[in-house]
Amino acid sequence: MTAPAAIIQPPHPTPAIGLGDSVPRYTSYPTAPHFHPGVDAITVRGWMDALEGDDEISLYLHIPYCDRLCWFCACHTKQTRHYAPVATFLRSLHKEIETVGGLVNGRGRVRAVHFGGGSPTMLKADDILTLGKVLRDRFDFLNDASLSVEIDPNDMNEGRLDAFAAIGMTRASLGVQDFDPKVQKAINREQSFALSKSIVDAVRARGVRSINLDLLYGLPHQTLKSVATTVMQALTLAPDRLALFGYAHVPWFKKHQTMIDKAWLPDSAARLAQSQLAARLIVDAGYDALGLDHFAKPQDALAVAARAGKIRRNFQGYTEDQCETLIGLGPSSISRFRQGHAQNIVATGEYEKVVDSGQLATARGIEFSLDDLARGWVIERLMCSFAFSAIELVERFGTVGQTVLCEASRLAISGAGQLLRLDGENFVVPEESRPLVRTVAARFDKYLNNGTGRHSPAV
Ligand SMILES: C[S@@+](CC[C@H](N)C(=O)[O-])C[C@H]1O[C@@H](n2cnc3c(N)ncnc32)[C@H](O)[C@@H]1O
Ligand code: SF4
Repeated sequence: MTAPAAIIQPPHPTPAIGLGDSVPRYTSYPTAPHFHPGVDAITVRGWMDALEGDDEISLYLHIPYCDRLCWFCACHTKQTRHYAPVATFLRSLHKEIETVGGLVNGRGRVRAVHFGGGSPTMLKADDILTLGKVLRDRFDFLNDASLSVEIDPNDMNEGRLDAFAAIGMTRASLGVQDFDPKVQKAINREQSFALSKSIVDAVRARGVRSINLDLLYGLPHQTLKSVATTVMQALTLAPDRLALFGYAHVPWFKKHQTMIDKAWLPDSAARLAQSQLAARLIVDAGYDALGLDHFAKPQDALAVAARAGKIRRNFQGYTEDQCETLIGLGPSSISRFRQGHAQNIVATGEYEKVVDSGQLATARGIEFSLDDLARGWVIERLMCSFAFSAIELVERFGTVGQTVLCEASRLAISGAGQLLRLDGENFVVPEESRPLVRTVAARFDKYLNNGTGRHSPAV
């Protein structure tokens, strides 16, 4: 269910205001384009030193390879037809785990592990087992730690499934995108419904209780009818969660997307109609709508967290994970500590050189100011619940919170309540403006005027 958090690295030109405009996806605040090299390995060592014994930690492992390249993909990955580069990378990843585990030094307990990429499912079964062992040797795991894996169904076989099950897989997220052969051909992602179904069944047969499917709208040749057909087919698999992402066409950032002719893409009005139809079908089937683009069965942990106002947003998208510390491993991965964000070197070769020498692979990051924390809290609450409490904002952040509160009041008054309105003690994004919640969040983003890059459309 991970959206490619790293999609939108370049900074943003102007504050965005409407449908079709470009805005960050706000999987973090400040967003990655504002990270800088002033945060380095020494800074991150200090942050790791400050961890405490009972802190709960989430680990994210980024596997930067795939055995094929889908034209739509905006993830940080590289195609390889041979396993040798993957084996070399894994040796470096083990070294990084050893280094980070040594610095964490028994402080903190692992609550959640997430394997993402790229394609974790292109690892050989023995390598999956070894990776699981290396992690458990270097970190203390809570007994009920969760372990989720992004699965490309085309890669999966019995051996890999058994290996992930053996290292404790509790959740699986399958990339489906769309079942229409014409759409699949245009995105170079041919994957039959029968294959997806067989992997869902095989994952369930191994006792995995939580299955997510990733679907996309806004893809080449998609129509309302084809999106509806895909959604209905996906629902027959009874996933516990569904993620419905808008295709981000960013060819200036991902060259292979030039294989997708812009003329084949639905326009912003069609994208909005597709997302609304898909959402309605999913909700009518009994799922709760969560945040901007997720759905879950009411009894699923994510839906339970949402009802308790505890759903969170991090680099992996929406999560019920409450850990304050997220440690990213692998090239381009992003960590979050109480003090700030840090991102690893993006280029795999350079990452390998640095971690092989026993160093942390930190390339850049940002240390939080109180203003960042207050705005980050508001943006996260808006992205997760479309609302935030004025009282909680001031209680948490004092005078800095009051400044942000004044901005919220001005936005509510100047926009005549269209984007944000005060309802009791809560600022709320009205129902009809929810598809534009990224635009509302952007109004609280102090960094938006500073950049020169481009993001994906708001819807
Ligand atoms: C790391 S990728 C997929 C994992 C696995 N390799 C697979 O393909 O199934 C995670 C998800 O990001 C989403 N994604 C990738 N590129 C995207 C794009 N350009 N716009 C929106 N979502 C995208 C897809 O839904 C994909 O399933
Ligand atoms: S397999 Fe997944 S990560 Fe790899 S190119 Fe396709 S969508 Fe991207």
